[in-house]
Amino acid sequence: MSKKYFYITTPIYYPSANLHIGHAYCTTLTDTIARYKRMQGIETFFLTGTDEHGEKIQKNAEAKGVTPQAFVDDIVKGIKKLWKDMKISNDHFIRTTDEYHVEVIQKIFTKMYENGDIYLGNYEGWYCTPCESFWTDTQAGEDHICPDCGRPVHRAKEEAYFFKMSKYSNRLMEFYNNNVEFITPESRKNEMVNNFIKKGLEDLCISRTTFSWGIPIRENPKHVVYVWLDALFNYVTALGFMQEDDSNYKKFWGDDAEIIHIIGNDITRFHTIYWPIFLMSMGMRLPDKIYVHGLIMTKDGKMSKSKGNVISPNALIDRYGVDTLRFYYVREVVFGTDGQFTPEQFVERINIDLANDFGNLLNRTVGMIIKYFDGIIPEYQGQLTDLDRELEEVGKIAIKNYHTKMDSLKVNEAYEALFTYISRANKYIEESKPWVLAKDPEKINELKSVMNHLANALRQSAILLSPALVEAPEKLFAQLGIEGDLKEYRTVNDFNLLGGQKVTKGEPLFPRLDPAVEVEYIRSLMTSK
Ligand code: MSP
Repeated sequence: MSKKYFYITTPIYYPSANLHIGHAYCTTLTDTIARYKRMQGIETFFLTGTDEHGEKIQKNAEAKGVTPQAFVDDIVKGIKKLWKDMKISNDHFIRTTDEYHVEVIQKIFTKMYENGDIYLGNYEGWYCTPCESFWTDTQAGEDHICPDCGRPVHRAKEEAYFFKMSKYSNRLMEFYNNNVEFITPESRKNEMVNNFIKKGLEDLCISRTTFSWGIPIRENPKHVVYVWLDALFNYVTALGFMQEDDSNYKKFWGDDAEIIHIIGNDITRFHTIYWPIFLMSMGMRLPDKIYVHGLIMTKDGKMSKSKGNVISPNALIDRYGVDTLRFYYVREVVFGTDGQFTPEQFVERINIDLANDFGNLLNRTVGMIIKYFDGIIPEYQGQLTDLDRELEEVGKIAIKNYHTKMDSLKVNEAYEALFTYISRANKYIEESKPWVLAKDPEKINELKSVMNHLANALRQSAILLSPALVEAPEKLFAQLGIEGDLKEYRTVNDFNLLGGQKVTKGEPLFPRLDPAVEVEYIRSLMTSK
């Protein structure tokens, strides 16, 4: 059974450079789930934000000759604008430089220290600045390479505070065993258990002294808090944890809440080992699920500035519109495994589903209702034909599957299910042949039923598409003259609600893209640095 409250988060992104289509994928996926929960009437809180401290940001700022604060302020402005342009419906945007966050992190550090989980020592080992992560001699290997990202690590030797990770490893395993879906997909859990927990958790270094861009530890201010400790707690500081107004914290981090963190597989270890252990140390509840998506690659591997293969989401939405990119993410990108972005697949997916199937269904339906019924959606009486019944049957199954898949967060499969209904509706036009029915006055009721069924299939589809598509559903409702309750989610299972609405021909929702032109265009984006 659903809990009363739903809390969902994206990782907080590093404002070390502008975001690319990988980050926008994660945020869109999260946004779609948040919108789906809200559509079902569940009180939802959706958080995103930026992770602004650490050595990497300080270095990037120095390289540009500006202060770290000025550096991040500039990039964060762009990130906020991107989410606005993509109609991301986050309830709050946290920046780890926000004063409330800084203060609470300092309090958290003190509390963990007082609990006896932190001690002062000396760190000697390796550090990967891009990942902001520590590695032992064995992990860094002879080549001194970061096991996560493959880039060179550097030697670090400094006085540091340590967190007693090993104290919690049995409790963590027990938690995994009692909550089998905590890490989804399960393969990620096995990786964590085999690569880290079974080998024995080492105490974690949680402060740095060789740079200053971080949250100072009150008791010993030459130390700044390790950026991952600072960052992970954003999920509760943003809700008001340890602050005067903690009403959101009580609701969305309480027992009545379902809590889901959406992350990419590059940061699984931090979220599935460190984060639960930090929470245990604080005596706080743990999230329900860490939902780990794969990474979007390009033909030549990971996107990176130096390779010149970074694709900006801004460029895609400027040319194709926000719904097109959002749809590509939720329909084409398979959850859980790394996938490749290719311009060909992008164009093809949009053409097949949005232009040919969905957009075309609307165009044809509106055109026929204008032609045969002066633009008024007809009501029908009497018996359904076999074709009508079949369409309804496909619709019922698709809607049911959509829900099952959405409820288990399999967003791409939910939309795949919905499109079986939309494709069937197109086929239903071919099979019922309205142009033949229109010639026979005795078939008028059949013709009415076909038009009514088509309009209704579009209505239902638009409702279920609305967590993913933020502009097209309203345009569709406007073209079909659908208003008020009929746009509401609670009417989605009703196959016979329309009649009397006046349709209007509008612009095609998704014009067909010319692959020859658009593939080249997208390629040019990938090569422009
Ligand atoms: N700041 C940390 C996260 C702290 S969360 C408490 C961080 N930031 S990041 O900017 O590097 O963003 C990482 C996340 O962005 C990934 O986990 C993933 O969700 C998303 N993506 C970054 N590159 C991506 C792809 N190429 N493809 C898909 N998602 C990608 O790590």
